[in-house]
Amino acid sequence: MSHMVDLVIFGGTGDLSTRKLLPALFLLHRHQLADRLHRIIATGRGEMNTDGFREEARENLQRFLPEDRWDESVWATFRDRLFYQQLDAAMEAHYQALGGLLDEGEAPGRLYYLATLPSLYGAICHHLQGAGLVNSKSRVVLEKPLGHDLDSCREINEQVAQVFEEDATFRIDHYLGKETVQNLIAVRFGNPLFSPQWRNTFIDNVQITVAEDIGVEGRGGYYAKTGALRDMVQNHVLQVLSIVAMEPPASLRPADIRDEKMKVLRALEPMTSANVKEHTVRGRYAAGAVNGQAVKGFLEEAGYQDADATETFVALKATINNWRWAGVPFYLRTGKRLSRRYSEIVIEYKKLPFSLFANDPNELINKLVIRLQPEENICLHTLNKRPGLTRGLRLQPVELHLTDESQNKGDRYDAYERLLLDAINGDQTLFMRRDEVEIAWRWTDSIIDAWDETGTPVKNYNSGTMGPNSATALVAVDGRSWYE
Ligand SMILES: NC(=O)c1ccc[n+]([C@@H]2O[C@H](COP(=O)([O-])OP(=O)(O)OC[C@H]3O[C@@H](n4cnc5c(N)ncnc54)[C@H](OP(=O)(O)O)[C@@H]3O)[C@@H](O)[C@H]2O)c1
Repeated sequence: MSHMVDLVIFGGTGDLSTRKLLPALFLLHRHQLADRLHRIIATGRGEMNTDGFREEARENLQRFLPEDRWDESVWATFRDRLFYQQLDAAMEAHYQALGGLLDEGEAPGRLYYLATLPSLYGAICHHLQGAGLVNSKSRVVLEKPLGHDLDSCREINEQVAQVFEEDATFRIDHYLGKETVQNLIAVRFGNPLFSPQWRNTFIDNVQITVAEDIGVEGRGGYYAKTGALRDMVQNHVLQVLSIVAMEPPASLRPADIRDEKMKVLRALEPMTSANVKEHTVRGRYAAGAVNGQAVKGFLEEAGYQDADATETFVALKATINNWRWAGVPFYLRTGKRLSRRYSEIVIEYKKLPFSLFANDPNELINKLVIRLQPEENICLHTLNKRPGLTRGLRLQPVELHLTDESQNKGDRYDAYERLLLDAINGDQTLFMRRDEVEIAWRWTDSIIDAWDETGTPVKNYNSGTMGPNSATALVAVDGRSWYE
């Protein structure tokens, strides 16, 4: 029992918990990976007993688990781990009741997962401490968004830090839980083929795309105040960028990896009013068609009529000022209601100095394409001889797949399974350190400030396209194009 952990989910009745956390916990239980996890206590403001919660959880799991993963016999043992505790973040008495429930379980470790509004994080930590529920074996997991700018992020971090040490604080970015993001570390640092070439001498540019085909569905006023830069770039895109660009770490220990990521974020050149128009594009979806369905524009959707300063698309040309990356643009883009849903990193190699091949317009260049969503795989685009007896050597593209689809099937897991397991086991590698999150805000704040100073407009794009024409121009002026 000495190593067991009770998990308490604040916001245990919410959307994230229902769609992601409980299914991930069910699967960890199913695969007997959560051997240190004792009980799961979901909290919410509503009055409900544990039996009522288990009934709801059963229905939701059947609905949200991936196909074929529901199993009655697994449920029979999983249900016994589930508990419900009524808790309003502001009510001290509710924390006392939670303490009573935790004492009954006798697990010494406590993992508090905060999946409520981030504005409640400070109060929840404060009350947990006040009720004597925090000790050296307690940890806290924080869901995004951690603030809406550097100041508000610091405030939340400061409040949490009054109760939990940094090495007990786990900041989630679910992109880091993706198998391919971890595979990127293996590919970069495990292969002598790639390691020496991973620099400006050989690489021409890097592109990171996080494209969604959905609109701002069901996110209430949150998105209107947030926009694509804060919602996606500050966290997911910059986290991925820092792993692509980091120096080899001294070891795979969390501190060493996070130190190297941090150096990259520090080397990002801030945007200024002098260059923001040249290096950024803001967009907003207008009506159009996505996957054959007619859809409304952002400003025509209920609740968003006044959100004309909010971007649903952003494209950026980022510069990393260090020896490895000087001269290599990092083109970043993300948006909603784009032509399809996918996330990928493209490493584009430099062209040869001249071409030996008659049919080669020197356009077919080597690329490493790392796909994170919807499927996860890595593909190297190379060239070889077009087979046949025709006169002269002609080139053809050949894709080398570095992920063995057949082998990986049984091992697929959701990012939340990885992250929950690591948080239960106390491994911080795939979580964001405080300084990383804050420096990422500092960079995104520089963009927002420069947009404000220059009045950079939000340009319309038709739903179902890949953003405004100016996003194409952002890359085209450098003689390059987005990889589609
Ligand atoms: N949904 C996602 O896919 C997603 C993805 C990434 C990050 N997140 C983040 O995860 C957090 C939760 O998001 P969500 O979509 O699950 O929100 P949600 O569906 O609105 O759920 C909010 C949860 O917080 C509880 N809650 C609200 N006010 C409370 C209070 N005063 N005291 C105690 N509990 C309270 C609610 O419980 P009752 O209503 O039962 O009281 C509910 O369980 C947010 O920080 C969000 O940004 C969500």
